[in-house]
Amino acid sequence: MSSEVAPSGSTPAYTLSKIGLNALTRMLAAELDGMLVNAVCPGWVATDMGGAGGRPVAEGAAGVVWAATLPDGGPTGGFFRDGRPLAWP
Ligand SMILES: NC(=O)c1ccc[n+]([C@@H]2O[C@H](COP(=O)([O-])OP(=O)(O)OC[C@H]3O[C@@H](n4cnc5c(N)ncnc54)[C@H](OP(=O)(O)O)[C@@H]3O)[C@@H](O)[C@H]2O)c1
Repeated sequence: MSSEVAPSGSTPAYTLSKIGLNALTRMLAAELDGMLVNAVCPGWVATDMGGAGGRPVAEGAAGVVWAATLPDGGPTGGFFRDGRPLAWP
């Protein structure tokens, strides 16, 4: 799972891990014929990491389930939240 938060210097390890994940998504999507490879941002979710105030876990998870159950011919190499495309951060 990626994040739509724009790169900043405040959390460098986290930010670099997401930049790497986004790049890997696009590389694998370009290389793997017949497989759909996408990145998903769950939005701000009230997990241990997200803390109080975020959306319920089920709402964040729904977009992940959507991406994991795309039919053949679905999008690949994209970045999504709630099944809708996002610009790469
Ligand atoms: N929450 C948000 O608002 C938000 C927003 C954008 C993106 N994301 C992304 O969504 C993903 C999940 O975040 P979350 O909010 O669910 O975080 P979380 O509540 O902190 O849960 C992290 C999960 O990762 C597991 N984990 C941590 N280190 C691990 C390791 N070395 N090996 C195997 N498992 C490990 C933890 O296992 P244990 O329980 O066993 O420790 C835990 O189940 C992350 O990639 C995060 O960056 C979250």
